[in-house]
Amino acid sequence: MQKIHTQKQQYYQHLRGKNPWILALAVVGLLGGGLLIASFLQSNNTSQLLCGGAWGARSTENATALQLEAILHYATARVVPQQSLAEISVSFEILRSLGPSNFLVFGLGHDSLMWTALNARGKTLFLEEDPVWVQTVLKDAPTLRTDTVRYRTRLSEANELLRHYSSEPDCSAKNSFIRGNDKCRLALNMLSDEVYDTEWDLIMVDAPRGYFAAAPGRMAAIYSAAVMARNRKKSGVTHVFVHDVDRKVEKIYAKQFLCKKQLVKAVGRLWHFEIPPAANADSDFC
Ligand SMILES: C[S@@+](CC[C@H](N)C(=O)[O-])C[C@H]1O[C@@H](n2cnc3c(N)ncnc32)[C@H](O)[C@@H]1O
Repeated sequence: MQKIHTQKQQYYQHLRGKNPWILALAVVGLLGGGLLIASFLQSNNTSQLLCGGAWGARSTENATALQLEAILHYATARVVPQQSLAEISVSFEILRSLGPSNFLVFGLGHDSLMWTALNARGKTLFLEEDPVWVQTVLKDAPTLRTDTVRYRTRLSEANELLRHYSSEPDCSAKNSFIRGNDKCRLALNMLSDEVYDTEWDLIMVDAPRGYFAAAPGRMAAIYSAAVMARNRKKSGVTHVFVHDVDRKVEKIYAKQFLCKKQLVKAVGRLWHFEIPPAANADSDFC
């Protein structure tokens, strides 16, 4: 051990004494490399480079570049995600166990770059109600994939919508579909084909806003997440997470459509459900 150490010292002395220019070259190289990476991450072309095409899987290099971008972002961010570490860890654990996944997130926020980086080799799509907020978030994180959604509900209608659900045949679990479902007001019938055509492995309901009467509320997001999960054709369950379950509407709708018996974890204000594909078309939500 001592011998190796002495040999190392001699080597560095050799570099310093006889070839100082090698050391200078190494320092310049390191600084240059760092600057190159920083300018690469900040360039406008990063988004194209990282996305690997419309919905193509990212290469290992691009996934790493995205994760570096996230590290830089959160290392210098003044605002952090709203979910606690314990809450974030619930979906992180699932992402880790599944590997690259299809991850649908309701709501764009300070957590968006984090979710995308945690699923760097998968597909992460955000559904956001507020087009102005989309532009604000994309300015700092242009690599995020977002769709803007115009909801047809208001939080103040939450009770009435439950009655509508009971009386409208197109809302029933037996008929459950959301694409082109104009009669059931809980069905998100305005999403892109990309959303309908993807089998989502994880769905995070952390939006739209549901804390004032005129806000869209999360009723349709929870109902539509349940329908998408029940219609899954791939093997395995759909992991559905609902945040803010300390609120009445989130709690009632999650119990109604995602079901207490499918609730596998409750951490802080987050509930985690595992929804199997509907065994038969006649089965009810719960
Ligand atoms: C509960 S927030 C989601 C917050 C997100 N999970 C986070 O950690 O930042 C739900 C919605 O609030 C809105 N929102 C969140 N932060 C905002 C901000 N700073 N300014 C304007 N709207 C915001 C967006 O419409 C978003 O979809």
